[in-house]
Amino acid sequence: MPATLLERTHGTYLLSTDRGRLDRGLIHRYLSNESYWAKGRERAKVDRSIEHSYLVIGAYDVDGAQVAFARMVTDLATWAWLCDVFVLPHHQGTGLGSALVETIVEHPDVVDVGRQFLATADAHGLYVKFGFRVLDDPSRWMQRPQPA
Ligand SMILES: CC(C)(COP(=O)(O)OP(=O)(O)OC[C@H]1O[C@@H](n2cnc3c(N)ncnc32)[C@H](O)[C@@H]1OP(=O)(O)O)[C@@H](O)C(=O)NCCC(=O)NCCS
Repeated sequence: MPATLLERTHGTYLLSTDRGRLDRGLIHRYLSNESYWAKGRERAKVDRSIEHSYLVIGAYDVDGAQVAFARMVTDLATWAWLCDVFVLPHHQGTGLGSALVETIVEHPDVVDVGRQFLATADAHGLYVKFGFRVLDDPSRWMQRPQPA
């Protein structure tokens, strides 16, 4: 089932969940070169991650160039994972990141999902504004990383 298309503006930016608009080259360049969590991620892996994320969102400037991105992986019922959130440096600090996060976590298809999760090194303050809080009991959580 494709996600419900949602579009809104934030100042002069257009926010859109239309995956056809995404600049996958830009997303790959940012994630693999600039991000602290996906350094070196290959283009094919970025493409696959976008393809299999139920919900994606981009922000676009007046020229239509993509300046921000986020995606959400979900079963549409019990669980959702928000990840790969970024705003290009020149466009940060004007509320665009907040608008991006608000739009994706409150998207009508996922707003009633049992629980939404994310991981962040230092941007907790951004997500707290939209109802995220630290895990109640991290000792209940496990992970299974791929062997190196
Ligand atoms: C985090 C990021 C998406 C925020 O985008 P932005 O457009 O600058 O965000 P906003 O202008 O809406 O500001 C968001 C709020 O979160 C706060 N915030 C932003 N980045 C933060 C950070 N790294 N740590 C703590 N707080 C942060 C801001 O101070 C602001 O608070 P305010 O609303 O009380 O003023 C952007 O800085 C970014 O892409 N950073 C690099 C990549 C990254 O860290 N992504 C998040 C991975 S979980």
